[in-house]
Amino acid sequence: MASEIQSTKSTLTWPLLAAAVVTFLGSSVPAGYNIGVINTPQLIIKEFCNQTIIERYSTELSEYSLDIFWSWVVSVYIIGGTLGSFSGCWFADKWGRKGAILVNNLLGAVAAALFVATPIAKSVEMLIIARFLVGLSSGLTTSVVPMYMMEVVTLDLRGPMGVLCPLGICFGVLVSQILGLEFILGSAETWHYLLGLYGIPVLICMAFLPYLPESPKYLFVIKKDEDKCTKALSRLRGLPESALKTEILETKAASLREISAGQWGIVRLIKSKSLRWPLILVCAMQGGQQLSGINAVFYYSVPIFLSAGLNKESSQYASIGAGVVNFLVAALATFLIGRFRRRALMLFSCTTVIVCLLLLAVSIYFMEQFSWLSYVSVVAMLSYVFFYGLGLGPIPYFIASELFTVGPRSAGMALGSMANWGANFLVGMTFPSVKSAIGALSFLPFATSTVILTFLVWKKLPETFGIDPAGSNELSSEEIALQEESPTKES
Ligand SMILES: *[C@@H]1O[C@H](CO)[C@@H](O)[C@H](O)[C@H]1NC(C)=O
Repeated sequence: MASEIQSTKSTLTWPLLAAAVVTFLGSSVPAGYNIGVINTPQLIIKEFCNQTIIERYSTELSEYSLDIFWSWVVSVYIIGGTLGSFSGCWFADKWGRKGAILVNNLLGAVAAALFVATPIAKSVEMLIIARFLVGLSSGLTTSVVPMYMMEVVTLDLRGPMGVLCPLGICFGVLVSQILGLEFILGSAETWHYLLGLYGIPVLICMAFLPYLPESPKYLFVIKKDEDKCTKALSRLRGLPESALKTEILETKAASLREISAGQWGIVRLIKSKSLRWPLILVCAMQGGQQLSGINAVFYYSVPIFLSAGLNKESSQYASIGAGVVNFLVAALATFLIGRFRRRALMLFSCTTVIVCLLLLAVSIYFMEQFSWLSYVSVVAMLSYVFFYGLGLGPIPYFIASELFTVGPRSAGMALGSMANWGANFLVGMTFPSVKSAIGALSFLPFATSTVILTFLVWKKLPETFGIDPAGSNELSSEEIALQEESPTKES
C-alpha cells in the first residue's frame, strides 16, 4: 500500500512553486493591499474629492454629504468584490482557472492605471470606477485562487496551500498600512501612486501566467481532455507520466463520478438536498468570519491604543503592530493547518474569539470608571487578532474545497465567497452607526453571531483533514475516494 501511494506524495516542484508565487504576489497580496490602502490616507483623499467636486461641478458638499460620498468610495470595492466572487465560478469553468486569473490580473492592472491617473484627470468618477474594478478583481481572487491552488497540489499540501491566499491578503493589508504612512506614500502629492502601486507586481505576475500549468482536474472534468490533464500533472509533480499511474487513476475515478453527476451550477447546488449542509456550513463560515467583527476591531484599534495612553503617532504604529500580529499568525496557521484537525482548530479559534470580544466590550464600556481597563482592552484586542488568525481567519477560505467534490466545488466556493463579501458589506455599512448608537456594546452582536457559528460548526462540521494526526498513517486512495463521495458523512 505504501509504495502505491508514494507517487501522490508531493514534492515542491518548480511549476508548483511558480503557481504559488504568481498567485500570491499577483492576486492575493493585491486583494489585501486594496482592502487596507484606503484607511490611512483617507483624510487626504477626501480633501482631494472635496476640491475636485468644487472645481468640476461648482458645488460644495457639506461634511455629511462628503462622508456619504466617501463611504461609497470605500464600499464600491466590496460591491465589486461580491460580483467578482459570484462570477468567479463562471469564469473558472468557461476559460479555465488560469483564464480567470488572467481576467483578475487585467482588471487589477486597469484599475491601478486609473488610480494613478485620477488626480491628473481630476475626476472623482475615475476613483469610483477604479475601486469597483479592483473590487471585481479581488472577488475573482478570493473565489478562483484557492480553488486553483487546491486543484494543483496533492492531498498532503492541500492545507498549507489553501491558506496561502488568506496569508497573502494579510500581508497585503500590512504592506498597505506601512506604505500609507504620510512620510512614505500617504501624502497629498503621492496618494495616487500609493493606490496604484500594486499594479507593478500584478503586471510582472501576469507575464509569468502563461507558463503556469492549468489545473489537471479542470482539464479532465470540464475540458474532458485526458492528454492535457496527464501532461499538466506530470509537470506539476515533476515525474514522468508512467510514474503517475495511481494519481491519474484517482483523478479519473473521481472525475468520472463528477461527469456522471452532470453539470453543476449555482442553482442546482442550492436545490440539491444532499449538499444542503455543506453549503450552509460554507456560507455560515465565510459570512461568520466577517460577522466576527475583524474589520471593526481593526477600525477600533487606533482609539483603543489612544485610550491606553499612547500618543497619536505611537497609536498608528501600534495599529501596524496589530497588522504584524495578524500576518505572523496567518503564517503560523500555514504550519498548523498542515498538522491539526480543522474542526478542533475552528472550534478553539471561535471560542477564544468570543471571550476576547466580550472582554473588549466590557473593558471599553467601563474604561471611564477604571482606567486600568484600557490595558485589558489592548491585550483583548491583540489576543482577538491572534486567535482569529488561527482558525476563523484562514479555514473558511478553503473549507469549501474540502466539503465539495470538484463538480459542485466552483459553485460552492462562489456562494461562500459571496457570503463573505456580503457580510463584509453589511458590517461596513452598519457598524459606524451602531457604534455611535451603543458604543462599546457594538461588539456584542459580533460575539452573538460567533456563538451561533461555533454551535453550527460543533454540530455539523465533519472532519476534512486527510491525514491522521500522527502524520504517518495516510489514508488509502479508496478511502479518499470514499470520503470524496460522501463529503457530508458525519464522523
Ligand atoms: C471643502 O473645501 C472647502 C474649500 O476649501 C472648505 O471650506 C470646506 O471646509 C471643505 N469641506 C469639507 C467637508 O472638508
